[in-house]
Parts: sequence; C-alpha cells; structure tokens
Amino acid sequence: MENKKLSLIFAVVTLGWIGTVIALAIGSHFAIHRFDTPPVQPVEFSHTLHVNDLNLECLFCHEMAEKSIHATIPEASVCLSCHEGADIENPKVKEMMTILQNEGELKWDRVFKVKDHVYFSHRVHTVVAKLACQECHGSVENMTVAVKASGGSSDRGFLEMGWCLTCHKRHGAPHECITCHK
Ligand code: HEC
Ligand code: HEC
Ligand code: HEC
Ligand code: HEC
Ligand code: HEC
Repeated sequence: MENKKLSLIFAVVTLGWIGTVIALAIGSHFAIHRFDTPPVQPVEFSHTLHVNDLNLECLFCHEMAEKSIHATIPEASVCLSCHEGADIENPKVKEMMTILQNEGELKWDRVFKVKDHVYFSHRVHTVVAKLACQECHGSVENMTVAVKASGGSSDRGFLEMGWCLTCHKRHGAPHECITCHK
C-alpha cells in the first residue's frame, strides 16, 4: 500500500519534471534570443505582417541573399509596387508615403553587421551551405521591427569570430584565416 502510493507520487513528480524540461526546451527554441536594443527606424516595418499575413517570401525583398555577398535591404520601388496608389487609411503607411515624397527613400538603420575586414558571403551560406535565414537571424517573420537576434542554436559571442568558427567546425567548413580575412 505505502509502496504503491510512493511510486505513484514518484511517477507524478517525474512526469511533471520531464514536462517542465520539455516545455522549457520548446520555449527557448522559439524564443527570440535578442542582442542590443531594437533600432529606431524611419517607419516601423513589420516583417510579421508582410511575411506571415501577406505570405511574402524573404527573397521577394531580399533576392540578393541567394545571388551575392550582401542580402541588401529592398529599395522603395519594391514597397511602392503595392503601396503606391493604394488607399492610405493606415497611419503608418501614410507616414511612410510622406517620408518617400519628401526624401525619396527610407534610411534604414543597419541591424546586423560584421567589421569591414571580415569577408562574409550570403550566397555561400544560403545556396551552397543551404542554411535557413533563421539560423543566423532568428525568426524574423515574428518580428515587427527587425532586431539583432540569433536562431538560438549557438549564441555565444554572436557575430564574433568564435560564432562563425563554431558553426564552421560543426559543418567541416574551412577555417583558415584567409577564408574570412582576405
Ligand atoms: C516586403 C519586404 C520584405 C520581406 C518580405 C522581408 N523583408 Fe527583411 N527587411 C525588409 C526591410 C524594409 C528591412 C529594413 C527595415 C528593418 O530593418 O526592419 C528589412 C530588414 C531585414 C533584416 C535586418 C537587416 C539589417 O539591417 O541588418 C533581416 C535580417 C531581414 N530583413 C531578414 C528577412 C527574412 C529572414 C525574411 C523572411 C522571413 C524577410 N526579411 C522578409 C523588407 C522585407
Ligand atoms: C505585396 C504587397 C506589399 C509590398 C511589396 C509591401 N507592402 Fe507594406 N503592406 C501591404 C499591405 C496589404 C499592408 C496592410 C495595409 C493596411 O493595413 O492598411 C501593408 C502595411 C504596411 C505598413 C503598415 C504596417 C502596420 O503595422 O500597420 C507599413 C509601414 C508598410 N506596409 C511598409 C512597407 C515597406 C517599407 C515595404 C517595402 C520594403 C512594403 N510595405 C512592401 C502590402 C505590401
Ligand atoms: C550563416 C549566417 C547567415 C545566414 C544563413 C543568412 N544571413 Fe543575413 N547576415 C548575416 C551576417 C553575418 C550579416 C552581416 C553582414 C555584413 O556586415 O556584411 C547579415 C546581414 C543581412 C542583411 C543586412 C544587409 C546586408 O546585405 O548585409 C539582411 C537584409 C540579411 N542578412 C538577410 C538575410 C536573408 C533574407 C537570409 C536568408 C535568405 C539570410 N540573411 C541568411 C548572416 C547570415
Ligand atoms: C550556421 C553555420 C554558419 C555560420 C554561423 C557561419 N558560417 Fe560560414 N559557412 C558555413 C558552411 C557550412 C560553409 C561551407 C559551405 C560549403 O562550401 O559547402 C561556410 C562557408 C563560408 C565561407 C566560404 C569558404 C570557402 O572558401 O568556400 C566563408 C568566407 C564564410 N563561411 C564566412 C563566414 C563568416 C565570416 C561567418 C561569421 C560572420 C560565418 N561564415 C558564419 C556555415 C556557417
Ligand atoms: C569563419 C570566419 C573567420 C575565420 C576562419 C577567422 N576569422 Fe578572425 N574574425 C572573424 C570575424 C567575424 C571577426 C570580427 C569580429 C567582430 O566584428 O567583432 C574576426 C576578427 C578577428 C580579429 C580581431 C580584429 C578586430 O577587429 O578586433 C583578429 C586579429 C582575427 N580575426 C584574426 C584571425 C586569425 C589569425 C585567423 C586564423 C587563425 C582568423 N581570424 C580566422 C572571422 C573569422
């Protein structure tokens, strides 16, 4: 009798413990591991709205990410292809159109950056290594303003040399100095 009760308590405690560990693991996988404070942009561009709600692909706006070294931020003409001539009820869209009329472009603050002496190529990582954008940028599709965040798999020294090398060693990618310092 006593023994049965004890093992029941033990089973409940163990299951609760396993449940908590799993919940924490899933939570931290989906959590956005952010670094630095969010940038202040000319207008709040919502990735969530354009990617999750409107189903636009990352490459619709960042097509260079598979073609070149730099992924680049889209020019205003990409935005205007939808926003020009559309009903401007939305105050944030109105704000954007006013800036575009006055200044001709949106001066976005850069979020991700490595030092100039470092050679980094998007094409190699997206096309050759077939890595998802989220691996290095976190779940951008769940962000309103893009923030500096990682995918959470290797946060240590994010964007520093050790971060690059950790992943390169894991994948057997080159790690001679000349690979990244030309
Ligand atoms: C409708 C166009 C559009 C789509 C679709 C889009 N982006 Fe963006 N993205 C932008 C604009 C505009 C900015 C600059 C504003 C900002 O930083 O929030 C930006 C900024 C970013 C940045 C920060 C760049 C920096 O300054 O370092 C990253 C990273 C990024 N996007 C990744 C993605 C990923 C990943 C997807 C798909 C899940 C995606 N984007 C889809 C337009 C888009
Ligand atoms: C495929 C069409 C399409 C493209 C391309 C597009 N947008 Fe939008 N955008 C929309 C729609 C639809 C809405 C929702 C409008 C509304 O709620 O009134 C929207 C909403 C917005 C808003 C208001 C967001 C909010 O939180 O209310 C801003 C700001 C904006 N877009 C900026 C941009 C910028 C900057 C670009 C270019 C990098 C861009 N859009 C490209 C269709 C587009
Ligand atoms: C292996 C990691 C990695 C992957 C994968 C990756 N990026 Fe990047 N991204 C970076 C780094 C590092 C920078 C900063 C580059 C610099 O300063 O030159 C950056 C910068 C950017 C920028 C800022 C503008 C620019 O051209 O530097 C955008 C936008 C961006 N990435 C979008 C994307 C998109 C979209 C994808 C997927 C199609 C993607 N990235 C995949 C690491 C990555
Ligand atoms: C998430 C994993 C990951 C991260 C993070 C990463 N890389 Fe890579 N990188 C790879 C893989 C995998 C390859 C090998 C692609 C192939 O040739 O198959 C590669 C290849 C490269 C190459 C081309 C090497 C060659 O000569 O073929 C350069 C340059 C490079 N990475 C620079 C960087 C820099 C700089 C950083 C940090 C800012 C970085 N990488 C971060 C996974 C990563
Ligand atoms: C996979 C890419 C990669 C490889 C391989 C690599 N580095 Fe780096 N290295 C980086 C990145 C990224 C930074 C910049 C970190 C930052 O922006 O703070 C850096 C920074 C440095 C710095 C510091 C400069 C500064 O700006 O503070 C030195 C020195 C350096 N690397 C030397 C080396 C040497 C020596 C080797 C070979 C043994 C090497 N690196 C191999 C990516 C790499």
